[in-house]
Amino acid sequence: MIKISPSILSSDYGKLAQELKRMEDCGADMLHIDVMDGHFVPNITLGAPIVKCIRKASALTFDVHLMISDPYKYVPDFIAAGSDIITFHVEADSDIEQTIDLIRKSNVKAGLSVKPDTPVETVFPFLDKLSMVLVMTVEPGFGGQSFKEEMMPKIKTLKAEIDRRKLDIDIQVDGGINSETISVAANAGANVFVSGSAIFSSPDPKATIADFKKKATV
Ligand code: DX5
Ligand code: ZN
Repeated sequence: MIKISPSILSSDYGKLAQELKRMEDCGADMLHIDVMDGHFVPNITLGAPIVKCIRKASALTFDVHLMISDPYKYVPDFIAAGSDIITFHVEADSDIEQTIDLIRKSNVKAGLSVKPDTPVETVFPFLDKLSMVLVMTVEPGFGGQSFKEEMMPKIKTLKAEIDRRKLDIDIQVDGGINSETISVAANAGANVFVSGSAIFSSPDPKATIADFKKKATV
């Protein structure tokens, strides 16, 4: 199923609750929440207390992307704050299996992500426990970067492995998704699309999301 997950990294943090509601009204399927610790990536965004506050603003799935060095330590806070899916990086310092188990123990969905330089095969040992794999199409840390088309072979390899093992796992892409690149990622096999700047800078986000859904249908 195709899903569009606007990244609130590009929203107005001064009125987050309204921004979430606005995205919901515009047809968003999920809300992508980028958490950065200034250590795993060279930028700092927000933590679990903010997620808890904005949880009241929307009933949509909270798709939390942890770009932090020690996800195991902070996962309980993000679960308590109301996250529906928690994705962390295979490159992080925490034990991967233990972190996945910790997320799933609370009936929250677990996702694993790979940065552009990391082979996608690194997630294969964990696929049985995952609901989603996020293939980054930019270096994590900032919105507004250009889509790395050279990541498409990784998506194809991942899709083939998921199909071979008959698993039900979403393939998410994040970074530089716009009305052109979304078709490229969809053709490679992605079905969940994060988009920050393209949606939030659009004069008509509702039309943009509708256009994305059309372009992502392959
Ligand atoms: C980048 C974040 C992305 C970011 C995408 O590290 O993970 O979610 O918000 O922004 P755009 O769509 O502008 O590339
Ligand atoms: Zn993200």
